[in-house]
Amino acid sequence: MAPPSPTPGAHAPGEARIRLCRTDELLPGQARGFDPAGSGRDTIFALRRGDAVLIYHNHCPHQGVPLEYRKDRFLSADGQRILCYAHGAHFDADTGVCIEGPCRGQSLLALPGGVEHGWLWLNLPPTSPVLR
Ligand code: FES
Repeated sequence: MAPPSPTPGAHAPGEARIRLCRTDELLPGQARGFDPAGSGRDTIFALRRGDAVLIYHNHCPHQGVPLEYRKDRFLSADGQRILCYAHGAHFDADTGVCIEGPCRGQSLLALPGGVEHGWLWLNLPPTSPVLR
């Protein structure tokens, strides 16, 4: 899939503002990976929690690997936890804090973004490791 394209708009100078998907393409209880840098892998993922949308770097604090075992598989069966399939870490979906596993107490990196006009946006400075 082609990377989402940066879109001009109201954001901080030098900050990349990237349109990820329509909000109706991210359903409650689901997560979805994105490749904003066009690197060939999903370096971030987003999930919907009620009316809120959360965006995280797809990078486990234990050993720095991607979390999912296959495309868009980031969540536990009940959708309440984010899982790392490498060694079984469980993260609270709302906070990104590891609550079970080898990196207990460490956190996923939450990323800035939000919903506007029916779209999910990612806001990042151009130096962010997520864009490399
Ligand atoms: S790399 Fe994620 S739990 Fe080990």
